[in-house]
Amino acid sequence: MDNRPIGVFDSGLGGLTAVRELQRLLPGEDIIYFGDTARVPYGGRSRDTLVRYARQDVAFLRTFDLKAIVIACGTVSTTALDVLTEENDIPIWGVVEPAAEAAAQSTKNGLVGLIGTQATIRSGAYERRIAAEAPGVRVLSRACPLFVPLVENGRFRPGDVVAETVAAEYLEPFQDAGVDTLVLGCTHYPLLTEVIGNCMGPGVTLVNVGEKCARRVAERLGGMAALAEPGRRGESRYYVSDSVEDFSRLASIFLRQDVAAEVTQVDIW
Ligand code: SIN
Repeated sequence: MDNRPIGVFDSGLGGLTAVRELQRLLPGEDIIYFGDTARVPYGGRSRDTLVRYARQDVAFLRTFDLKAIVIACGTVSTTALDVLTEENDIPIWGVVEPAAEAAAQSTKNGLVGLIGTQATIRSGAYERRIAAEAPGVRVLSRACPLFVPLVENGRFRPGDVVAETVAAEYLEPFQDAGVDTLVLGCTHYPLLTEVIGNCMGPGVTLVNVGEKCARRVAERLGGMAALAEPGRRGESRYYVSDSVEDFSRLASIFLRQDVAAEVTQVDIW
């Protein structure tokens, strides 16, 4: 048993897709979340910059006594997981492995779509993992850089004309190609699930990387006998590098609970 918190970080709001699932699966766990809202989006940055940001994010989280860190950010998971794992002596888990495995298992026609940030698509990390899992599966990928700013600005609900127009343009090649599974390879994208789902139609399975990652974290902590004491009520605290108000408002909508009192602004560099 281990009652220490789980650290979770992302460039902004997107990692809350993993937090929401962690809170559902593991209500006894304390969570320390960091969203680098002053520097979001990460997706268009170079590898060097991303590694520097990721080191700073982890260094901040490690000011707490954590049992594990979850990189709830597709971009950092695909570009800096190896560096962070090598430099830290606690478990650090990303989103690629569980999501790629889920996609490989889900596809029936062997054609998987992948959307992510420019850095994620450039890395080829999902493709490598899917190929290792299911060598015959083909992956069609596309960077969708406008999705993260849409989400960070609260423009993720169905009926939002801008979100729907952008989604229609980004997703057309996947519809034309006939993918039966689409990996939402950035943790921000599941906030657009309804918009993306309406474009792709009911026959296409959407893989929510935040959710898959949270499930894998629960399995791993269970396997390490490192879950919190049964019956315990966990608490979550949220740290951001920019305005508390914007994050609190959108996080409260997405998590369906008022988190304003738990959000603190920090300077991590
Ligand atoms: C971004 O900050 O551009 C997106 C983060 C992610 O890839 O999950």
